[in-house]
Amino acid sequence: MSPGPWTDHSRHVAAACSLIAAHCDDLDPDKAYVLGLLHDIGRRYGVSSERHLLDGYRYCMTRGWDEVAKVCITHAFMIQDIDTSIGVFDMDDEDRLFMKRFIENASYDEYDSLVQLCDAIAMPEGFCILEKRFVDVALRYGLCGHLLDFWRCMLAVSNPRRAYRCTAFSTA
Ligand SMILES: [Fe+2]
Repeated sequence: MSPGPWTDHSRHVAAACSLIAAHCDDLDPDKAYVLGLLHDIGRRYGVSSERHLLDGYRYCMTRGWDEVAKVCITHAFMIQDIDTSIGVFDMDDEDRLFMKRFIENASYDEYDSLVQLCDAIAMPEGFCILEKRFVDVALRYGLCGHLLDFWRCMLAVSNPRRAYRCTAFSTA
């Protein structure tokens, strides 16, 4: 319905999720693959900013895929506060309020963190290191106020042994 680089990006996110999950005792690689593959499914309706999160959520919920639906929204919010978003809320006030409450009340698990991490290391062309992705995002969106916290959270998830100070998020 809406061909674009997001489809190859999604395939790489799925592969990364599956590969990492296969090395974790408590994660299912097949489940991780599906969550990664469909996390951006809301983009099937066309080019949009944060609306693709809600579109994906609704697409999955109408099919009973509630865990995928959750990831469709949570993958964009490593910090559980929608005001930390770097995108545009191209939706009405009611939908924005729904997203705000959903994120604030969501109970994140390791699959949410896994998709967030893999979303950040999967370009349409293939995998890249986190730091390269950071530069890519900063050049496209600018240096918004929460970017450093976002970077700290992402690095903390990718390597829990490093002590990045991230007050807005716990990797526990
Ligand atoms: Fe993505």
